[in-house]
Amino acid sequence: MASVPSLAATVHQRIADALSAALPEAGAADPLLRRSDRADFQANGVLGLAKKLKGNPRELAATVVAGLGTGAAGDVIADIEVSGPGFLNITVADSAITATLAARAADDRLGVPYAEHPGTTVIDYSQPNVAKEMHVGHLRSTVIGDAVTQILEHSGEKVIRRHHIGDWGTQFGMLIQYLIEHPHELDHESDTQRPAGSGSAGSGAAPGSAPDAEVDAEVGEAAMARLNRVYKASRAIFDSDEEFKTRARDRVVELQAGEAGTRALWHKIVDESKIYFQAVYHQLDVEIRDADVVGESAYNDDLATVCQELEESGVAVRSNGALCVFFDDVLGPDGNPTPLIVQKTNGGYGYAATDLAAIRDRIGVLKADTLLYVVDARQALHFKMVFETARRAGWLPENTAKQLAFGTVLGKDGKPFKTREGTTVRLVDLLDEAVERAAAVVREKSDGGLTEEEILEQAAQLGVGAVKYADLSTSLGRDYIFDLDRMVSLTGDTSVYLQYAYARIQSILRKAGDRKPKAHPELPLSPAERALGFRLDEFADTLASVGETYEPHKLASYVYSLASAYTTFYDQCPVLKEENPPELVENRLFFCELTARTLQQGMALLGIRTPAQL
Ligand code: ARG
Repeated sequence: MASVPSLAATVHQRIADALSAALPEAGAADPLLRRSDRADFQANGVLGLAKKLKGNPRELAATVVAGLGTGAAGDVIADIEVSGPGFLNITVADSAITATLAARAADDRLGVPYAEHPGTTVIDYSQPNVAKEMHVGHLRSTVIGDAVTQILEHSGEKVIRRHHIGDWGTQFGMLIQYLIEHPHELDHESDTQRPAGSGSAGSGAAPGSAPDAEVDAEVGEAAMARLNRVYKASRAIFDSDEEFKTRARDRVVELQAGEAGTRALWHKIVDESKIYFQAVYHQLDVEIRDADVVGESAYNDDLATVCQELEESGVAVRSNGALCVFFDDVLGPDGNPTPLIVQKTNGGYGYAATDLAAIRDRIGVLKADTLLYVVDARQALHFKMVFETARRAGWLPENTAKQLAFGTVLGKDGKPFKTREGTTVRLVDLLDEAVERAAAVVREKSDGGLTEEEILEQAAQLGVGAVKYADLSTSLGRDYIFDLDRMVSLTGDTSVYLQYAYARIQSILRKAGDRKPKAHPELPLSPAERALGFRLDEFADTLASVGETYEPHKLASYVYSLASAYTTFYDQCPVLKEENPPELVENRLFFCELTARTLQQGMALLGIRTPAQL
């Protein structure tokens, strides 16, 4: 494993050194290097420097150029000239481009370095609620959280996942009481007698030969159906029967007191939900480990201490019996301060208390250096108040916690995405539809050479990838419109376009037979090869910046620009053409292969599959 400095970094260093040599009195000066279309790079740093030292920028630029003595064989800089008021236009040597790429190709990690100072990050993501359906908001949290986790781990960071599921609250009193009074409602027997092959409509799988995913999806659906039934039935009684209501409320007290039978039923409900969640995760192609599912209930025993410490330190005060934390800059619509309520008047603990307890655990016990929360932007005020409270209490060092607040998924009407009936869209329905649309694309592209099973497998990878990519290619805070037609399109900024680009490269590599990829730094490069080469070389720098700012959309836009550069290369630089000399074929195959590896790695970090054949 060797980290490979990018061409940009190497050139930057050369110019910085030349600047200091030309102007020792300036100390370390930034050449302000950037990519340019006049040459490969432009450095604008001379201007500011000349101004500061009251010199002539063009003269200073000329001195820097003279000092560089470029153009020697093997030098990274092939040409440098002064332009305009004192810019430096820099052209990189073809040989340096190919040699740098060869160094990347020789490394498993494509020359991507580990972070210099890795730490421990606790990331709170994919936090659905027990006994409820997962919806489109949980899609964002899961997909973004998974990508950020992969990207950070790839950089060497230790990442601890925390799925803070909603597994506690007064609604459990109602559900458990109902189960006590209707003891067989969550039993599985009623569902197991289904004939083989009676799965979801339109699955197309032959009876008895359903692939794994199908089975999982069915089991998950059945679990959710049972929970829905219990939820609806108990809600109906709760709303109509005052005596049941009282029994349900007493049940909450039993649950909190840890009464064994009550806890057992609670467990049953949570476990049933987890079966459903896992089925959705399977369909979504993300791995969520049970050990990382540490829901709200896990912090029960700490809540009293949290409140006591907050009250004793004066961070929180009693107001009408509730334990509250006030903020100067958080006012309600009436202009009065709106507090964070840590304990309600009736003694119950809420969402805020649990989050505060979780912070103490994550910093104090898990020893996190960074806390990330992948949660809907509409909870921004909650987290702002929770973080500030934890900071005042001395539990959370400054600038340690960050909410990766994501925007809302919108329907085509520009309003939060709803079904035609106005209810929230179930995540599974949406994924099913995406896969169905993708199947149509696969069918159209394939010339009858694929079996139905292969079509469905590819459709799953394309459809789910399309949904993930559409989400991840939008910057986190922005809302986006859920438009499946656009998402599964073969052209434009979609994962399907990227997956086809990848598969096309694989097909070229297969067709090449015994002609193997090999870098030939001695060969001159055409403009399309140079452009592709620079893109390939930017992978490591892109990942470093994505890991620092937690912006997966920058990785998405990188892989897209890489695939676009490849498309141009493919159009302009025939790889396997008869009359190409063998070295040229090898060198172009080398560009192809490195593009494929880089695309695959980049997409994998986003949680998107790259089938070898489409
Ligand atoms: N369960 C919540 C929801 O579905 C999200 C939980 C977010 N995480 C947290 N630590 N509060 O909206």
